[in-house]
Amino acid sequence: MSSLENSGLTRAKVFAIAALVSVTAAGAYYYYSTQAASEQTDDKAGAETSDSAAKKKKKSKKKKTSSKPTTAEDAPSTSTSPEAKKAVSTEPKETIYPVNSEGLPEITEEVVANLSEKEKEEWALALKEDGNNEFKAKKYHQAIAFYTAALLLKKDPIFFSNRSACYAALNDHENVIKDTTEAIKLKPDYTKCVLRRATSYETIENYADAMFDLTALTIYGGFSNKSIEQVLERVLKKHSMKIVDAKPKELRLPSAATIGSFFGAFVEESSPEGVNEESEGADKFLHDALVQINANTATGYDQADTLINQAVEAYNVEELDSNSEKAGPASIALEYQAAFQFLKNDATSAATSVERAIALKPRPRSYVFRALINADKSSYAEALEDFKRAEEMDPKCPDIFYHLGQLFYLTGDLSKAEINFETAKELNPNNVYAYIQLACITYKNGSIEEANEKFTEAKLKFATSPEVPNYYGEILADKGDIQAACKQFDIAARLQESLPNFSVGALPLVNKATCISRESFDRLAEAEELLIRACELDPKSELARISLAQIKLQKDEVDDAIVLFEESSDLARSYEEKVQATSFAEATKMQKRIKQDETLTAKIAEVMRQSGAVPY
Ligand SMILES: *[C@@H]1O[C@H](CO)[C@@H](O)[C@H](O)[C@H]1NC(C)=O
Ligand SMILES: *[C@@H]1O[C@H](CO)[C@@H](O)[C@H](O)[C@H]1NC(C)=O
Ligand SMILES: *[C@@H]1O[C@H](CO)[C@@H](O)[C@H](O)[C@H]1NC(C)=O
Ligand SMILES: *[C@@H]1O[C@H](CO)[C@@H](O)[C@H](O)[C@H]1NC(C)=O
Ligand SMILES: *[C@@H]1O[C@H](CO)[C@@H](O)[C@H](O)[C@H]1NC(C)=O
Repeated sequence: MSSLENSGLTRAKVFAIAALVSVTAAGAYYYYSTQAASEQTDDKAGAETSDSAAKKKKKSKKKKTSSKPTTAEDAPSTSTSPEAKKAVSTEPKETIYPVNSEGLPEITEEVVANLSEKEKEEWALALKEDGNNEFKAKKYHQAIAFYTAALLLKKDPIFFSNRSACYAALNDHENVIKDTTEAIKLKPDYTKCVLRRATSYETIENYADAMFDLTALTIYGGFSNKSIEQVLERVLKKHSMKIVDAKPKELRLPSAATIGSFFGAFVEESSPEGVNEESEGADKFLHDALVQINANTATGYDQADTLINQAVEAYNVEELDSNSEKAGPASIALEYQAAFQFLKNDATSAATSVERAIALKPRPRSYVFRALINADKSSYAEALEDFKRAEEMDPKCPDIFYHLGQLFYLTGDLSKAEINFETAKELNPNNVYAYIQLACITYKNGSIEEANEKFTEAKLKFATSPEVPNYYGEILADKGDIQAACKQFDIAARLQESLPNFSVGALPLVNKATCISRESFDRLAEAEELLIRACELDPKSELARISLAQIKLQKDEVDDAIVLFEESSDLARSYEEKVQATSFAEATKMQKRIKQDETLTAKIAEVMRQSGAVPY
C-alpha cells in the first residue's frame, strides 16, 4: 500500500532470493511438450497398426474403405491391417519362449531356473521386442505382460522404463512411479525415467517428489536446461499454493511500522465530532481507539482495532440513519473499521464497512478510504471518482492530495504525482511522507543533486523523524553509494530507538544488513546481528525474517532458514506474498534433500568442476 515500502532495496532483495532459488530448484514446459510430442509420434506409428486408432482421419481412410465403420472401430486385435497381422498373428509361432493360448508369454520361475545366461539374454530381448510391438499397437496390457516376462529373465532398467511407458499410457501413475523408481535405482541418471516419474508425481499432486526429480534433471542437464527450470518453477508454485491453501485463513494486522506509515499520511484527529476523554459508551471506545492510533506503538494498533470494533457494535449502526444524533461518530468508527480491514488485506469487508460509513454520513476521508480500496484492486477510474467526490466536499482536505499523489506515483504519472504531493505538503505541513515522496520523484527524474537538497530540507524540518534518513538511505543505496547509505540507516535506527513510538520500526536495520551483506561476504556476521535485532524489534516484520533467512542460507544454516521463511509466510498478509515465502521455504527444503543424495551431490561437484566454479 505504501510505495515507500516497495522501494529499491526491498525489490532487489526479492530478486536476489529468486535467483538463489532458481539455481538449486527450478521448472520445463518445453521439455514436457517435446516429450508429449514424441509420444504423439509413437501414437501415429501405432495408428497404422491399430484399428482402435482408425479415427485418425488421413491414414485410416485408405484402410477403412472396404470395412463397415462400426466394426472397424470396435474390432479387437484380429484386424485386417497387414502390420497388425505381422505383430500379433504371426509372431507367436516364431517365439523362442513359451506362450499361452492368447499368444502371451508364459514364463514361470522353474522355466527361468533351467535357462542358461545366454538363453535368458536372448529370451529377454525377444520379449522386449514383442512388448515394443504391442506398445506401438497401443495394446498396453499385452505389452505389460511381455515386459513383465522380460523382467523375470533380466532386471534391466530399460524393461522397467518400457513397462512404465505402458502404465503412463494407461494413466496408472502409481505403477509408473513403481517402475521408474526401479529403473532409477539401477541407473540413477536415467533422465527419461526421472522425467516420467516427475510427470506422474505432478499428476497425483505429490509436488515435493516431482520437484526432487525435476531438480535432479536440472543437475543432469548441467544447470543449463531452461525448459526443465520452467516446469520446476511451475511445480514449486503449485506446491506452495497447496500448502498456503491448506492453512487456516487468519486475518491479522501488519507490523506497526506499516500501519504507522498508513495513518501517518492522514491528518491526525483526536476528538472528531466532540468525542473525548469524558465521553461514554460508543464514543469512549472511539476516543480510546484514536488515542492508541495516535500513540503509534508496536502493540497499540491491535488494541485500537478491538476498540473500533467495539465502537461500531455499541453505536448499533444498523439502527442509525443520517439524521441520527450519532450518525457522525458512528460513520467515523466505520471508516476506521474499514481502514483496519484494509490493512489486514480483507478488501471485501473493508469495502462493506466504508459503504456503510458513506451511506450513514460521509466525509471527505470516507471517499479517500474507498479510493484506496479501489486503487488496491487496480480500479483506478473508480478511485479517481472517489477523490473527485472528496474534493467536492472539501477542496482543502489534505488527506485527498497525498493519496491522489500516491495513485499517480504508482501508475507512473510522476508529474501529476508531484503536483498533488506539493498540494498535500502545503495543506498538511506535518506530513513527512509528502516531503519524502517529492524527494524520491526528483531522484527518479534524474536530478540527484536536487533530491539531496530535498532530503536535507526534510531533515531540517523533521529533525527527529527516522523516516527521512531511512528513505534517503534507500535512495543512496540504489545509487550505489553504500557507505553513505549505511550512515543514513544508522541515523534512522538511532532515531527510532530514541522515540517512544514506532515509525520505521526495523526497516533501517534490515536495509543496512542488506547493503553490507551484498557488499562483502566478510560482513555476514554483522548483517546477521542486525537482522536478529530487527526481528526482535519488530516481530511482525516478514521482511526482517526473510532477510535473516537469506543470511542463514549463505551461512549454510539451512534449517534456520526454512523456519524463518515459513514464519515470513505466516506473517505475510497477501496471498502472493505467502506463496512466495512458502516457495522459498520449499526450495530450501529441496536443496537440503538434494545435498543428502550422494549421487546428485557428486554430479553437482562434477558440473561445477567442469564449469570452473567452486563446488559448494
Ligand atoms: C528343468 O530341467 C530338468 C533337467 O534338465 C528337467 O527335468 C525339468 O523338467 C526342467 N523343468 C522345466 C520346468 O522345464
Ligand atoms: C523401450 O526402450 C527402448 C530403449 O530405450 C526404446 O527404444 C523403446 O522406444 C522403448 N519402448 C517403449 C514402449 O517405451
Ligand atoms: C533438457 O532436459 C531434457 C531431459 O533431461 C533433455 O531431453 C533436453 O534435451 C534438455 N534440453 C536442453 C535444451 O538441453
Ligand atoms: C523531470 O525533469 C524534466 C526535465 O529535466 C522536467 O521538465 C519535469 O518537470 C520533471 N518532472 C518531475 C516530475 O519532476
Ligand atoms: C512519534 O513521537 C514523536 C515524539 O513524541 C512525535 O514528534 C512524532 O510525531 C511521532 N511520530 C508518529 C509517526 O507518530
